[in-house]
Amino acid sequence: MLSSHLKRLAKLTVTQAARCLHTTGVVQSGAGPHNALLSHLEEDENKADMAWEFTEENKDRCTGIIAQYPDGHQQAAAIPLLDLAQRQHGGWLPLAAMNHVAAVLDMAPMRIYEVATFYTMFNRNPVGKYHVQICTTTPCMLRDSDMVVRACKENLGIGMGETTADKLFTVCEVECLGACVNAPMMQVNDAYYEDLSEEDVHEILDGLREGRTPKPGSRIDRFASEPINGLTSLTSPPTGPGFGMREDL
Ligand code: FES
Repeated sequence: MLSSHLKRLAKLTVTQAARCLHTTGVVQSGAGPHNALLSHLEEDENKADMAWEFTEENKDRCTGIIAQYPDGHQQAAAIPLLDLAQRQHGGWLPLAAMNHVAAVLDMAPMRIYEVATFYTMFNRNPVGKYHVQICTTTPCMLRDSDMVVRACKENLGIGMGETTADKLFTVCEVECLGACVNAPMMQVNDAYYEDLSEEDVHEILDGLREGRTPKPGSRIDRFASEPINGLTSLTSPPTGPGFGMREDL
């Protein structure tokens, strides 16, 4: 019994050694110089006492967002306001912006730090103009997200969690982005690129580098998440009340 358990364990260890899963998470969260995106680094561009506030236009947006929540529950606006701050600041959140959001919402700064450090959508350090996030969770992995990782590394000449010298691209691995049916996929800023082949990855990155906006969505032109080989259900006109079958009504 014990020896079979040990054999299984040895097999697992060999499997795990074959590929280090989700390297970005390790790179991002560890202490030291490699904590690329998620830790606070006291640098000239990211000091707690830096002046930071929303633009006039975004102040109006904040008012509109906060008004969507019931009186006394303005804290619920923490995530949308952090997102707004990140967009205003070029895709990342300096500590001063978090402190400003805390002040706007009348919250303890620590409560805002807790939110900003929990969600990987918030970047604690600068990212390139194009933030490339590759999903490597199981469904994407089974559809060869390794190929997407490889192609990005090859095209950009950087590793996971790194930014190109021209500050154009940052690339990292992330957990499921909710487009599993169209795996493998990657997200660039707000756009999803799905059903990717190696050529697609190069074409998308080359296009962005040349200032074009590659068409987002499925690269094999299927509509949303329809089956690759065409519809297998709901292939005839709908019947029933409201769909023309009740001519007597
Ligand atoms: S596993 Fe990749 S999008 Fe869900």
